[in-house]
Amino acid sequence: MDPVREGQVAIDPWSSKAIKDYRRLMETFGIRRIEEIYPLLEKNGMPKSLHMVRGIVFGQRDLDKVLEAKARGENVAILTGFMPSGRFHFGHKLTVDQLIYFQRNGFKVFVVIADAEAYSVRKIGREEAIRIGIEEYIANMIALGLDPKETTFYFQTNRGTAYYRLIQLFSGKVTMSEMEAIYGEVNPAKVVSALTQAADILHIQLEEYGGYKWVVVPVGIDQDPHIRLSRDLADRLSRDLKLVRPASTYHKLQRGLDGDKMSSSRPDSTIFLTDPPEIARSKLMKALTGGRATAEEQRRLGGVPEECTKFDMDLYHLLTSNEELSRIYNDCRGGKILCGECKLYSWRKLEKFLEEHQKKLEKAKDLAWKIVEAPSF
Ligand code: TRP
Ligand code: SF4
Repeated sequence: MDPVREGQVAIDPWSSKAIKDYRRLMETFGIRRIEEIYPLLEKNGMPKSLHMVRGIVFGQRDLDKVLEAKARGENVAILTGFMPSGRFHFGHKLTVDQLIYFQRNGFKVFVVIADAEAYSVRKIGREEAIRIGIEEYIANMIALGLDPKETTFYFQTNRGTAYYRLIQLFSGKVTMSEMEAIYGEVNPAKVVSALTQAADILHIQLEEYGGYKWVVVPVGIDQDPHIRLSRDLADRLSRDLKLVRPASTYHKLQRGLDGDKMSSSRPDSTIFLTDPPEIARSKLMKALTGGRATAEEQRRLGGVPEECTKFDMDLYHLLTSNEELSRIYNDCRGGKILCGECKLYSWRKLEKFLEEHQKKLEKAKDLAWKIVEAPSF
């Protein structure tokens, strides 16, 4: 893989490198700060989301336009996709939390199961991709609180003529060197997947799919090349089709419990929402912390929550009260708490969460099979 560089900063949606310097990336790619849209949230009577307040959702493009349209009473939507290639983990939950936030604030939600991409890029079998798409992804999303009545779920291989027509039209609007400039090394699977993803993002603007002109796509910053491609394609089709450039929000990527990228393919450092409690517990208790070598040192110097992957779990998911989060942060910094007891505290939150979530999941699985049409092969 040879990710192409723009300036000094490389973004490659298929690379597994954790991305560190968000501010630099933002400047390079013209992403604006999330804080800039706060007045427009207020204008729409929307609270800031917990992840915005905590700096996890940190950037956006054109979200101001979407919120202005919403304030005028126009329909707005949020769309994202998941490749059904592994188990649903807390990194996925972060995106779903954002879908739920926008849904509760009047956005129509679209979720695409990227089974075509899973098949061609990840070599996942068809039956497996369909089962994982429904039982892992859709079911977990419903159990987390995404309202299935207000959400359209679909499979990439099972959508409809106008959607596929877009992919065909797009193919004439990009060059190989452009694809390479975005992705580094490309092959047919990646080209088709990129164009399919652009169709995912843009097709809901078509009357056939609801005519949603104002669409937000919440992504990790590593997925930004896809957003830029969709925006360019919207412009390039303008002779034949009026498409509005999609908006986007950007969130930090939660690290795995070893400090490296969180991924389904690294199950020891990734907590899945279906992990049996004793397994989740042992993963959490082994998490890389920002603690010191000895208890004495920790009491004297304090820990470093910024380096602690257990604190990430608190920050992203487990502690929904800001006061509680600050208390842990300050106790850690001030050396008032040691990692063992601190982990146990979070474990109790995680245990409760998993227990309640997994209870909802069984029902959600049955429902998931009913609300999406599975591809026939
Ligand atoms: N490519 C995404 C992934 O790697 C999945 C995806 C498909 C997607 N279509 C999308 C994401 C549209 C956002 C918007 O998981
Ligand atoms: Fe992490 Fe808690 Fe240890 Fe601080 S005290 S480094 S937050 S586990």
